[in-house]
Amino acid sequence: MEQLLRQIENYRNEIESIVPNGAEALEAYRIKFLGTKGIVKSLFTEIKNVPADKKKEFGLVLNEFKQLAEAKYESWKSQATESGPGDKSKPDLTLPADTAPLGSRHPISLMRNNIIAIFQRLGFSVAEGPEIEDDWHNFTALNLPEHHPARDMQDTFYIHQNPDWLLRTHTSNIQIREMEKGVLPLRIVCPGRVYRNETISARSHCFFHQIEGLYIDENVSFADLKQTLYYFVQEMYGTDVKIRFRPSYFPFTEPSAEMDINCQICNGAGCTVCKHTGWVEILGCGMVHPKVLSNCGIDPEKYTGFAFGMGIERPALLKYGINDIRLFSENDIRFLKQFTPAI
Ligand code: DAH
Repeated sequence: MEQLLRQIENYRNEIESIVPNGAEALEAYRIKFLGTKGIVKSLFTEIKNVPADKKKEFGLVLNEFKQLAEAKYESWKSQATESGPGDKSKPDLTLPADTAPLGSRHPISLMRNNIIAIFQRLGFSVAEGPEIEDDWHNFTALNLPEHHPARDMQDTFYIHQNPDWLLRTHTSNIQIREMEKGVLPLRIVCPGRVYRNETISARSHCFFHQIEGLYIDENVSFADLKQTLYYFVQEMYGTDVKIRFRPSYFPFTEPSAEMDINCQICNGAGCTVCKHTGWVEILGCGMVHPKVLSNCGIDPEKYTGFAFGMGIERPALLKYGINDIRLFSENDIRFLKQFTPAI
């Protein structure tokens, strides 16, 4: 009995002096003290050899020892797992960081930036204007006085509180605002969102985007307009692209034209995009009407200029092979994330 108690005392000292050091040593400790053939178990089998009057005292000592051995195991174990990689309660600073998902640019922004970049290389700068506009800047100054039949070309959203206010139907309002500033020569491209009261379908929407161009200086000619636009489409679609100008009508330009390019989808063979004509209209243009110049305080005897306006949605549909304009404004992340952040 005395010998057994001394043995327990030695084991107790041994356990207390152990410094926990890793999972392997922990397992060895468990097997040695707590395993099925371990020290605690074997000490319990000694009970039968202890004299009956000492059994109680021995039992108490042995139980205490067993608790000590188990407590040591538990604290060692929790220490081992806390600092280990599997611990969910603390961040594991050794793991590599999550990659932050990169956003992507909207296809309309990509197309707009492409167009702007081309004109910037020709010396155009970017100007913007308000989407809520007054009648003067959206219509009247552009040679569309009240009751002018051409106002019906664009179904306008008016603002209830003030009949003079509307959602701009085109980016041509920016031309007026820039010309009114009176700083010449003027060479600008004006991107922006525009609104028209149209039925929403795969082909048209009640809002969309345009880019307007304007160049005012002395001696600006229709030849300058053609060359500028030819440069633009060559940069955009490649040097093989063909253009044609058709006479057209806009109240704010005289003469006016619409410009087509040969169909980039079927290359002239005929398809639904070009409605089997081989040509796709991409913009309207013309020489700025003298009345528009004088409306903005510019002398039409001294200055001339050209202007053009184009939608952004259609070239984006063509470029990215999208068949429904509504996708642009639905914010479906599965659609949006297909466009890489190019510019
Ligand atoms: N504002 C016209 C539209 O929305 C587009 C346009 C045509 C703009 C000819 C122009 C232009 O500056 O010269 O349909």
